[in-house]
Order: sequence, then structure tokens, then C-alpha cells
Amino acid sequence: MNIVVLAAGMGKRMHSRLPKVLQPLAGRAMLDHVLTATSGFSEYPSIVVVGHCADEVMARYVDREDLRFALQIPQRGTGHALMIACPELNPNDAHTLVCLGDVPLLSRDTIARMAEEAKSSDLVLLTVKLDNPKGYGRIVRNADGNVCAIVEEKDANEEEKKIDEVNTGIMVLPTAKLEAWLGALTNENAQGEYYLTDVIGLAAHEGARISTVHPDRIYEVEGVNSKVQLAALERTWQRAQADRLLEAGVTLIDPDRIDIRGELVCGTDVEIDVGCIFEGKVTIGNGVRIGAYSVIRNATIEDGVEVLPYCHFDGAAIGKDSRIGPYSRLRPGAELKGNNHIGNFVEVKKSVVGLDSKINHLTYIGDTDVGARVNVGAGTITCNYDGVNKFRTKIGDDAFIGSATQLVAPVEVGAMATIGAGTTLTRNAPEGKLTLSRARQVTVEGWMRPVKK
Ligand code: UD1
Ligand code: CA
Repeated sequence: MNIVVLAAGMGKRMHSRLPKVLQPLAGRAMLDHVLTATSGFSEYPSIVVVGHCADEVMARYVDREDLRFALQIPQRGTGHALMIACPELNPNDAHTLVCLGDVPLLSRDTIARMAEEAKSSDLVLLTVKLDNPKGYGRIVRNADGNVCAIVEEKDANEEEKKIDEVNTGIMVLPTAKLEAWLGALTNENAQGEYYLTDVIGLAAHEGARISTVHPDRIYEVEGVNSKVQLAALERTWQRAQADRLLEAGVTLIDPDRIDIRGELVCGTDVEIDVGCIFEGKVTIGNGVRIGAYSVIRNATIEDGVEVLPYCHFDGAAIGKDSRIGPYSRLRPGAELKGNNHIGNFVEVKKSVVGLDSKINHLTYIGDTDVGARVNVGAGTITCNYDGVNKFRTKIGDDAFIGSATQLVAPVEVGAMATIGAGTTLTRNAPEGKLTLSRARQVTVEGWMRPVKK
């Protein structure tokens, strides 16, 4: 099946410099959603019709070999847009699916049903009955109930305006007929545009078999023309994702207060408190609890982990039964092996933390290998950066790092070593011994506080 996505329109009502189809929904451009839904349905590149801000839209997808662009300037309507795409279509593909770049939540399931239906008809329209059909093209059926035309709202008479079955704009057409049908369109209508929808009347006149498919959920065909509609669709989509988690057994303290901007996979008995944001790919094991207001991106959280409120993870892997937070920050390459305690105002980056090790307070661990059963005291800092290069720190198993220590990398702390509080460690600390760098403490006899002159 050929795939064409119409995305040349201007999106004036967004009042934004960002092209409409690049406006994000659930963290991804609307056009991304459409391209993800349609991917795999064609062996050939999908055709995206661009026009308004074409350069910006194309720049976003330069690396995509599965896409081709057709430039529509000026934009003379949806029929004209498809006409522009025609030379790019594979003529051997009997069917052509048309999607709209501003209708982002069309599902793969619906596309599959349209493709199936296309096997036994000439034209397949995705239609839906709406309580308030205002603004949409209406589906006109004859006495036998067969579709015979689509009438745009602005061209509809009073009778036609009462029709509650509307055109979603998404349809499958016979590739071989396109040039002839689109070539026959005129722009003699209320908007002076070449309407793709007028093709339906032509097809019906020729006796084409026109069938209709309906989406399982209305949001799949909701279009976005303004920030108001974008925000409303975002909430609808978030709620739909939350419901899917609830149905799978995840406990959400409030399903209206979770945001998933990517893919969230949860095991059994997962509990998520309010205000959490999940971005990218996040995998959560069994029996995990996520505290309120955490932002978690591209992370793996294993079974039994407890995340206390206000944590921030990005590119981190958290091993079984760990307890993280509140206010912990795990950055890319943070890998906790399991049963770790990471406490408030602790930042870990590009570091492995061995089993049972604890870093409880006010600490920066970067470019470090921490062994097993290590205790890192409050206020410890790995000085991993000299302003130009980064260096690694190694801390052996069972080491104890006293509070307010600076480990100036590259440096190693041996297994079972103890570092005295307040140490600035610039050379390796041998295993099993106490190492400290500290000026001797003195008390000055006879010293007196100054008095006001
Ligand atoms: C269109 C349909 C209408 C349907 C509605 C569903 C037509 C004539 N009307 O109306 O029946 O109910 O969608 O949402 O098809 N575009 C181009 N080039 C153009 C014009 C539009 O690429 O010259 C693109 C737009 O970027 C947009 C899509 O086509 O992604 C739909 O265009 P829009 O102007 O929003 O059509 P509607 O008036 O919503
Ligand atoms: Ca629209």
C-alpha cells in the first residue's frame, strides 16, 4: 500500500513559529505519531506532502530513508496535495492510503482494518459519527445506504449539515485511478480549493465500490488545529495510556496525574504516585513503587525498587530492591547493581555502584566504579574533571569513605580501605588501611575574641 501524509497546511491557528505538524503531542511531533502508525504498511518510502515551513519539516527527517517528500507550494487544497504526491507513488501498489499530519493518533489497528477492507472494495473511507459534526465534511449516502459523496461543511445545505457521519480525511484509494480523478477536480466551491473529498462523488458516479471503516476510539481521528485542541488531545491521550496501565494492574494514585511521553512498561504490583513524568523508554519491574513528582527518562528499574519523591533519572539502570531518593539524580550511565541506597541530593553519572553499596547524602559520583558494600559518606565528591579531561575513580569492595571527602581522579581506594572524613585524596589509598589527609587540629591558648572598637 502506498502511503501519503498530507502535511503542507499552514496551521495558522497555532500562533506558533513551529510548523503545525512538528508541534509535540506526548513529547513527539504530531507527524512522528502518524509516521510511526503507518510504518511497515508499505515496502516503499512513505510520501510526505510538505509546503508551509517545508525546509524545517524536511530537516527533521533527513535521516529517514523510509520517507520521501513532495513539495506543494502554494497549497491549493487536499486534492491538489495528493496530486503533487502522485508522481512519487509506486504504480504497482494497487492501494494508496492518505493520512493527515494533523490527525496524530490514528492507530495501526485501524490502518490494518482499512487495508483489509481495501481488498474487497475500490475505496475505503474512515468515517465516524459525531454528536457535534460541525466543521467536518459530511458523508452523503444514497437510498441503499451506499456512500455517494462527501460535502464539506462550508458547502453543505441545511439537510446535509444534519448528517452526523463525518469524513476523517483518512482514506484508501485505488492508485491507478488517482491521476484521472484528481485531474477532474475543480475548485468551484466555498473555499476555492481542490478538495480530495470531491473524488468520492466522481468514484461513486463511476460505480466504484466505496466502503467505510470506523475507528475504535474517537480520539484516533481528532484533528489538531489550535493549541486548545492540542492540549485537549494530549489529556485524552494521557488518560488513555493511564487507563491501559490500570487495566494491566498498575496502581496509579491518580490516573489524571501521570504523563507518559514515550513507552512505559510495568511489571506486576507497580504503584505510581501523582505527578510523575515518563519519557523515552522506561521499563519497571515487579513490586516497584515510584514516589510523587519524579521525572524518569530512558531508565530500567528492577523488581522491588522504591523511588521516593522528586527524583530525576535519565539513562540510568537501577538494580533490584534499591531505595532511591528523595531528590536523587541519576544521569546517563548510572548503573546500580542492586540493594543500593541513594539518598537526597546525590548525583551519579557514568558510574557503576556495586551490590549493597550506599550513598546517602549530598554527594557527586561521576566516572567511578564503586565496589560492593561500600559506604560513601555525606558530602563526598569525585573530582573527575580537570577542566579539560575526565578521569575515573575506583573504590574497592567494603571501602568506607568518610564524609566531606574529595577523591581527585584518577585515583583508587583499595578494598576494605577507610578514608578519614574531610580527606582530599590525590594518591591511591591502600586496601585495609586508614588513609586521611587532614591538618592537625590545634587549640590556641589565650586567644580572645576581638571587641568592638
Ligand atoms: C479535511 C477534509 C474534511 C474532513 C477533515 C478531517 C477536505 C477538503 N476536507 O478538512 O472532509 O472532515 O479534513 O479533519 O479534504 N493540506 C495540505 N495541502 C493543502 C491543504 C491541506 O497538505 O493544500 C493538509 C493539511 O496540512 C492537513 C490536512 O491536509 O494536514 C487537512 O487539511 P485541512 O485544511 O486541515 O482540512 P480540513 O478543513 O480540516
Ligand atoms: Ca484539519
